[in-house]
Amino acid sequence: FAAEKMDCGESLFAAMSAFVSSCMSGHDPSHNPAHVHRVVAGANTILAAEQALDPAAHFDSTVVQLAALLHDIGDRKYISQVAQSTSDTSENKKASLDPTTMVREALLAHGASPDLSAKVQTIVSHVSYTTECKDPTAIQRLIEQGYPELAIVQDADRLDAIGALGIGRCFTFLGAQGRRFVPEGQWEMDNAIEHFGEKLEKLEGMMKTETGRQMARVRTERLRIFRGWWEEEMGMSAGST
Ligand code: ADP
Ligand code: NI
Repeated sequence: FAAEKMDCGESLFAAMSAFVSSCMSGHDPSHNPAHVHRVVAGANTILAAEQALDPAAHFDSTVVQLAALLHDIGDRKYISQVAQSTSDTSENKKASLDPTTMVREALLAHGASPDLSAKVQTIVSHVSYTTECKDPTAIQRLIEQGYPELAIVQDADRLDAIGALGIGRCFTFLGAQGRRFVPEGQWEMDNAIEHFGEKLEKLEGMMKTETGRQMARVRTERLRIFRGWWEEEMGMSAGST
């Protein structure tokens, strides 16, 4: 993360980057620190573009950057893996693996203010697609009422789930985790393509910023083209047998 210019204290960002590495370096490449790095860079790009579009809009860049950096901390799909990677089984450690508080705790432990820590935790807790599907109006309300940075971080994370990178991540995720997430009797690669229609191609319509929407349009088209190639080749192999 060293190459990026950060508006929050350099040392806080550096300490939290080290925390992210310690939690996520062992994850499969769909959710490793390189994904986080792309989301931070994407969030900075969207932030700059949104500020240029509307100079009156106010986003706290420290909140954007820290929330982007920490957005996948506490991901329930990986939490047991994070727990296993540490030999410390004390009550302290267990408490620090609570997905609803671990970002806030880590920020407080590194000297962030209670306000900043709570704000970043709230954003991180509401970034995911699953959370949004459960209650879309709650997300909209948060964005409008004090958490505009959520829109930027969410869009940056979703842009990494579509386009060429999204295709790479989807196959990587199922290659690494498949047996846990693919229904009995289905092949991992077929499930990956199914995931395009079930989720990935819907993300464009859920973008929260104008900049994110424009970028998502291009990347979603790439998904559709790829899926077309896939179906064509599948049809050819079916036809040739
Ligand atoms: P979010 O950050 O919105 O919660 P996830 O972390 O669940 O998204 O997923 C990020 C990426 O990992 C997805 O875009 C996809 O490529 C892959 N992925 C996650 N869950 C699945 C799944 N059940 N099937 C296929 N791919 C998945
Ligand atoms: Ni993510």
